[in-house]
Amino acid sequence: MACRLVTEGSTTFEVPLQDENAVFPPKTASVFYNTCMEFNRDMTVLLLSCIVLENYLDAMAATGVRGLRVAHETGTPVIINDRNPAAVAMIEENARVIGGDIRVICNDANRLMCTERFDAIDLDPFGTPAPFLDAASRAAKRYLFVTATDTAPLCGAHLKAGMRRYFATPKNTEYHAEVGLRMMMGAMAKELIKYDRGMEPVLSFAKNHYFRSHVRVLDHVAAAEATMNRIGFVMQCPTCLYRTEQKGSLLPKSHICPYCGVETEAIGPLWMGPLQDKEIIASLLEKLPLMRFGTAKQMDKLIHQLLDEPETCTFYDYHVISRNLHVSPPAIDEMIAGLGDLGYYTVRTHFSVTGIKTVALLHTIEEWILAWNKERNF
Ligand SMILES: C[S@@+](CC[C@H](N)C(=O)[O-])C[C@H]1O[C@@H](n2cnc3c(N)ncnc32)[C@H](O)[C@@H]1O
Ligand SMILES: [Zn+2]
Repeated sequence: MACRLVTEGSTTFEVPLQDENAVFPPKTASVFYNTCMEFNRDMTVLLLSCIVLENYLDAMAATGVRGLRVAHETGTPVIINDRNPAAVAMIEENARVIGGDIRVICNDANRLMCTERFDAIDLDPFGTPAPFLDAASRAAKRYLFVTATDTAPLCGAHLKAGMRRYFATPKNTEYHAEVGLRMMMGAMAKELIKYDRGMEPVLSFAKNHYFRSHVRVLDHVAAAEATMNRIGFVMQCPTCLYRTEQKGSLLPKSHICPYCGVETEAIGPLWMGPLQDKEIIASLLEKLPLMRFGTAKQMDKLIHQLLDEPETCTFYDYHVISRNLHVSPPAIDEMIAGLGDLGYYTVRTHFSVTGIKTVALLHTIEEWILAWNKERNF
């Protein structure tokens, strides 16, 4: 296989030569190296520089880049697996050159996770992680890290596929990025709960073409109960922008929109708990300047946003609200300051450039936007 050398973070490794413009996953190489995921890998390496692990399984490794980087840049003992023998040959060669505590396995990820347990497990499949969540929920001793690239099913664009994979109902709304992440995390929670295990999110975010969540796994019934209590639904009015939340994993109670008088639609079940462990997120900020990352600037921006975002569920898109009111969208910084002056904590959100996370209710945001427009005679 024709190869080239690549450096990510402070790790240099071989990847197959592939046509970067080829369709995803590229047909020009049997082992896939996705440059678009460097940011995703950078975030995991940074996180693992702040958490000490007994071992880490990169369960679907392709070139092995993620596991190789975790081993080389954080000193964590790693196990790197892929079912594709061509991938494993490449991983073995890379591991030999890089050195460190690296074990390479060629197995089906589910079979491997049914026979061995690992301190942390990382699932990075093509598309949906759903078929791997059951085995990973048993095999992960302390941490579970999951990427999903099937954004269309998770965001409601492919409704039936989303329902089949995640046993939940998505909906294509203006805040679908947050729904998608919370739906994936809801599926993670559901798999853990049935084994009397619970989860506490450490670092979770959405990017244009994927969702990523790192959670701590807790091994007792009380944690499973607490996790179950954080499952819920967003009740969305089908005719206006009103929405509210309902806790519980079973069919939600009927709820009528107070503005339109129509039945709201249930989105979920979703993970309604916090998305981050703010203490760990703060420690990432301290560690970031001490390490080398190709996406350091973007990482710094995201970490600040995650640190600032309130844990209240679902963001509002102020462009959509303004359009709905038939007025101009205000300048985002003015609106954040204005709502803040009224006592409502409001910040930008990493989910969308036209999104705000706020403790203000929808009608307060609407009133503020209308007043802003009136002041300017728009
Ligand atoms: C998206 S790629 C992994 C990318 C890699 N983690 C990275 O950061 O570049 C998915 C990989 O999963 C492997 N894979 C798919 N299904 C698998 C399974 N059931 N068991 C093990 N590996 C699997 C594929 O061979 C492929 O190499
Ligand atoms: Zn309504």
